Amino acid sequence: MGLQSWYDEHIVPRIIRCACGLDVMTERRKQVVPLAKGRVFEIGCGGGHNQPHYDRERVTSFAGIDPSGKLLEYARAEANAKGWSADIRQGVGEDIPFADEEFDTAVCTFTLCSVQDQSRVLSELRRILKPGGTLLFLEHGKSPDSRVQRWQERIEPVWKHLVGGCHLTRPVSSAIADSGFAVTPIDKGYTPKTPRFAGWMEWGVATKTA
Ligand SMILES: C[S@@+](CC[C@H](N)C(=O)[O-])C[C@H]1O[C@@H](n2cnc3c(N)ncnc32)[C@H](O)[C@@H]1O
Repeated sequence: MGLQSWYDEHIVPRIIRCACGLDVMTERRKQVVPLAKGRVFEIGCGGGHNQPHYDRERVTSFAGIDPSGKLLEYARAEANAKGWSADIRQGVGEDIPFADEEFDTAVCTFTLCSVQDQSRVLSELRRILKPGGTLLFLEHGKSPDSRVQRWQERIEPVWKHLVGGCHLTRPVSSAIADSGFAVTPIDKGYTPKTPRFAGWMEWGVATKTA
């Protein structure tokens, strides 16, 4: 095993588990995740940080995928803590192992930055949603400010090797809108106590268009 693979397998999941559990992120999760209803699918469910925020009165079933074995362990532990039966599988968003139009809601938080092929993942999310189904998103990405953008471009080549393939320069809402969703923003802005190059976030509800 090369150094990068060892780092990705053993160190990155611990960094993600800690960083994604910060209070500033939890506050934003609370604005998005409780909106999920019906049959729910979460992409990049590793770490399990969203599970405490699902409303059990609204969610009839929960499924999720993540490629990281270690992060899936945390997600399964969160499912046990919640006391619900969850269908949590190892997999990637570029090839979601579920049928067409199976879900009412898809949830995607801090994951579009890390996937290999963002537009393919969005197309897969669209495929598994029922007509009129919703994609709830909370993502960091490309800043609207050109000075910050330049820093994002400079830092990204190193950053992505340190943080599990995380990109800093990907657009969020516009990429979702370009993939066959009508986007209703909840909010956007820089995250407090976070460097601006990593702190621009957009979150909202995207409805699958016909
Ligand atoms: C920054 S972490 C966010 C984890 C979690 N979604 C959250 O909100 O705390 C990025 C997640 O995306 C997952 N991931 C990376 N590549 C992926 C892919 N191609 N498909 C699905 N998930 C992926 C990682 O394993 C990791 O769990």
